[in-house]
Amino acid sequence: MLQRPRRNRKSEAIRQMVQETHVSAANLIFPLFIVEGENQKTEVASMPGIYRYSIDNLLREVESCMKLGLTSFDLFPNIEEALKDKYATESHREGSLYLRAISQVKKEFPEACVITDVAMDPYSSDGHDGIVENGEILNDETLEVLGKMALAHAQSGADIIAPSDMMDGRVGYIRRVLDENGFKHVSIMSYSAKYASAFYGPFRDALNSAPKFGDKKGYQMNPANQREALIEARLDEAEGADFLMVKPALPYLDVIKLLKDNTELPIAAYNVSGEYAMVKAAIQNGWLNEQRAITEVLLSIRRAGATAILTYHAKEVLENKWL
Ligand code: PBG
Repeated sequence: MLQRPRRNRKSEAIRQMVQETHVSAANLIFPLFIVEGENQKTEVASMPGIYRYSIDNLLREVESCMKLGLTSFDLFPNIEEALKDKYATESHREGSLYLRAISQVKKEFPEACVITDVAMDPYSSDGHDGIVENGEILNDETLEVLGKMALAHAQSGADIIAPSDMMDGRVGYIRRVLDENGFKHVSIMSYSAKYASAFYGPFRDALNSAPKFGDKKGYQMNPANQREALIEARLDEAEGADFLMVKPALPYLDVIKLLKDNTELPIAAYNVSGEYAMVKAAIQNGWLNEQRAITEVLLSIRRAGATAILTYHAKEVLENKWL
C-alpha cells in the first residue's frame, strides 16, 4: 500500500498539523435575549444555560464574554404583550428597550460588534414578520417598517443590521435608507436562505413571538429547496448585503456549501435555538458527550463553509476552553 491515510492520524501532533478546519472566538456570534426591568436573569426553559437579561445584567454578560475574547453579539428583545401592535411601532420608538440596549452596550463596550435583528415579529401583535391584512403578509408596506427599524438601530450605534424577515427587496430598501441618512458604514448581514423551520420553537418561547395564526411558509423558504437559496443569495448580494446567512445551520449544511461556492461574500450560519435544545437535551440525559458533541457541531458548520457562526454555545465553548 503506497497510500496509508492513517499515517496522518498517528499522533495528536500530526492530527493537529493536518487539521483543515478550526473554530475560534473570532468566528463566533453570541445571540442574547433582553427583557425589560432591573436585575432580571431568567432561564429559557427549552434552552438550558440561556437567559433573558435586563439591560443591567446584559452589560455584565457582555463584559464577561469580552473577557473570553467573544466580541460579537446579536440582540433579541422580549417585548411585553401590551406594547405589541399590528405595525410593530415599538420596534422604532425612541427610548424602547431594544434601542436602549444597543446604545448602552455600544457606550460601555465600543469595541464590541453589535448585530441587531430587523424583523417585526417580537413587536407584532400578529407574531408575524410583516404587516398582516386579511390574513396576508404584505411585502412592500412591511419594507417601510423595516427601514424605520434599521435606521433606529443605526442611530443607536448598531455595527451590523441583520434583517431576518424574508420580505422581498428588504436588503436594497434598508441599504438605501441607511445611505440616505449617513450610515453608509453600517453593514448588512442578510438572512438570505432562511427556512420555514421547526427548529425556531425554543427561540419563540424565549421571546414569546410565535405567530398568532398560520405559519411563516409564505415568506420563509421551503426546507425541501436548495437551488432557491441561490436566487435569494444573488438578490441580496446585488442589493448590497455584506454577509449572507443560512439558517438553520445543521440541517442545511448543503446550502451553506452551495452559497460558499457561489459568492465571494462571507457566509454566516445560524445554529438556531432548536439545534441547541436538541444537543442540550441529549447531553442532559447523558446520551452525548458535551464537549465532543458541541465542538463537532461547530466544526461541521465551519467545514461546510461558514465564516461566522451565530450560536448559543459561543460562551460555553470559550469558558470551558474547548476550542
Ligand atoms: C425572527 C427570528 C427568528 C429567529 C431569529 N429571528 C424566529 C422566526 O423566524 O420565527 C430564530 C432564531 C433561533 O431559533 O435561534 N425574525
